[in-house]
Amino acid sequence: MSDFQLTRTLDEHAADAALRADVRDGLTRTPKSLPPKWFYDARGSELFEEITRLPEYYPTRAEREILLERAREIASVSGARTLVELGSGSSEKTRHLIEALPALDTYVPVDVSESALRGAAATLLADRPGLRVHALVADFTRALKLPDSPGPRLVVFLGGTIGNLLPPERAVFLAAVRAMLSPGDGLLLGTDLVKEESVLVAAYDDAQGVTAEFNRNVLAVIDRELGGNFRTADFAHVAVWNREQEWIEMRLRARARALVKIRALDLVVPFAAGEEILTEISAKFRQEGVRRELASAGLELTHWWTDAEERFALSLSVADGRTR
Ligand code: SAH
Ligand code: AVI
Repeated sequence: MSDFQLTRTLDEHAADAALRADVRDGLTRTPKSLPPKWFYDARGSELFEEITRLPEYYPTRAEREILLERAREIASVSGARTLVELGSGSSEKTRHLIEALPALDTYVPVDVSESALRGAAATLLADRPGLRVHALVADFTRALKLPDSPGPRLVVFLGGTIGNLLPPERAVFLAAVRAMLSPGDGLLLGTDLVKEESVLVAAYDDAQGVTAEFNRNVLAVIDRELGGNFRTADFAHVAVWNREQEWIEMRLRARARALVKIRALDLVVPFAAGEEILTEISAKFRQEGVRRELASAGLELTHWWTDAEERFALSLSVADGRTR
């Protein structure tokens, strides 16, 4: 018998209402913006996996290098019997950690993409038949109801996805993670590091145009789900390094004036030629900043590992002694 369970915390109605609210809010403000979680329908999840294999997109390879090198150490420090992974996607790198944890009882992947969760669980269960996999289709920025499972619990948040949250969102998110941790539990966090601008921009503007397609996919989601008439080819992919904020901004720039209708919202969105929608930030970090943000949320950084080229870091932290 397969030990797989999937719980949808977002029913279709709630997900549709959230998309409507985000699109109305984001496209009627100045400057226009859309939250990055709407990239990830089944096609968006596939495109992200393609991105991870691009020569320019180093974060996945760098993080895998650290995990391969450190999985045993992470496993022995954490002794985890439950692994909760936020924004788990294909869980491809997590397999190295799961292999290093023979006593692992339960894996709880959490993602907005049901297709990614189902694909990941099928692969994992083929490799590790005894593992209980309880997938949650959920928004990790909202309160999560985790299934009952044995401790210690290790919460993992890989890929640098924390960098897709704005600083105030990160503070709220980390405080919520802190609240999930009991004594003996930990947080394993992947953060991409500040580096040369040319390397960063290339990672978000690859020669094959896969990132451009990923970026435009959010418009395809709006067209399909909300009856929009965005013509994706009318929007250019833009990736710029914001030096002050130390984050990459992905934007979609209207090539010409346009009036976009979104039927389900009874909304017409005017675009001036050159006007942009901010679709994602991807913040890059330094060790002191990570330590400070963790500490502000009541988490104490205990380990910091990087790849050989110091492009990416994995950190382990625990709840500090303060009661909250
Ligand atoms: N952790 C994987 C995937 C990173 S891609 C890796 O390191 O390769 C980001 C993942 O987070 C996607 O699978 C996407 O569907 C998911 N995601 C993005 N925003 C989310 C949100 N608000 N709540 C839950 N999942 C989210
Ligand atoms: C999921 N996240 C960490 C990716 C990133 O690098 O910020 C999403 C992405 N956007 C463009 N390429 C990849």
